[in-house]
Amino acid sequence: MLFDTIATETTGRVALIRLDRPKALNALSDQLLTELGKALDAFEANDGIGAIVLTGSEKAFAAGADIKEMATKGFVDALNSDFAAKVDRVARCRKPVIAAVAGFALGGGCELAMACDFILAADTARFGQPEITLGIMPGMGGTQRLTRLVGRAKAMEMILTGRMIDAAEAERAGLVARVVPADKLLDEALAAAEKIADFSAPIVRLAKESVNQAEEMSLADGIRFERRVFYAMFATEDQKEGMAAFTEKRTPHFNHR
Ligand code: HXC
Repeated sequence: MLFDTIATETTGRVALIRLDRPKALNALSDQLLTELGKALDAFEANDGIGAIVLTGSEKAFAAGADIKEMATKGFVDALNSDFAAKVDRVARCRKPVIAAVAGFALGGGCELAMACDFILAADTARFGQPEITLGIMPGMGGTQRLTRLVGRAKAMEMILTGRMIDAAEAERAGLVARVVPADKLLDEALAAAEKIADFSAPIVRLAKESVNQAEEMSLADGIRFERRVFYAMFATEDQKEGMAAFTEKRTPHFNHR
């Protein structure tokens, strides 16, 4: 696939999407978000892909929504174009998406990373919601996702002051799954994606959906949802194969579509 603002490649069952607007620190222009959506559509439709890694450059995952594009927008332009909603495409992806973040993940960049399933951070990563300094507030899910991930106190501090946090603080706060040395970031993210892509695709899909329900449901409803899905798994060949392979001390061969 050929794009202007992102680059894509596939290795085995893993797709890599690299944000690629180096001169603007990967600022999320409308074109970039549109192209990202198209790449996700294609990878989601491709049974050969089991997991997706989304990354930026060494200097920036993404320094935010494109300020130069937003500067002259009026309320009705913003409302009608609904440009902030484009990040929802990432959250709606049914295949796992791992954000591999080095350098700046600010504003919409932090929100894009949080729309992924989990974040692996380089030790150089810096996260922040500096919108307040521009006379706006987070608009791509930041007030909601950051608050759920790090709790009210730190989310409130970050959003009201614009303070950036480094990778270590982000890990302590629960914003990122793991911090790795910058030169290992992509290898680690691809290895995690390969691991996921080797498991049963339908079971991975249901596990992801179930974890996501935790943010939408009461505990009792969520447990009920989990139990239904869990029992349904006993109707799959992959449950039989996974458990037979364990008993027979061999590698399981799971359904990849
Ligand atoms: C457009 C951006 C940009 C952005 C950087 N650039 N961030 N362009 N939108 N969000 C451009 C700069 O204008 C500059 O281009 C080039 O990238 C390099 O940036 P510098 O500032 O020269 O780099 P540096 O001094 O290293 O500083 C890095 C930085 C700084 C600290 C990340 O660029 C910065 O503060 N950026 C803005 C961060 C931010 O406020 N993000 C939130 C955006 S609002 P030129 O051509 O000028 O040299 C947002 C809202 C989301 O995300 C929700 C609504 C949808």
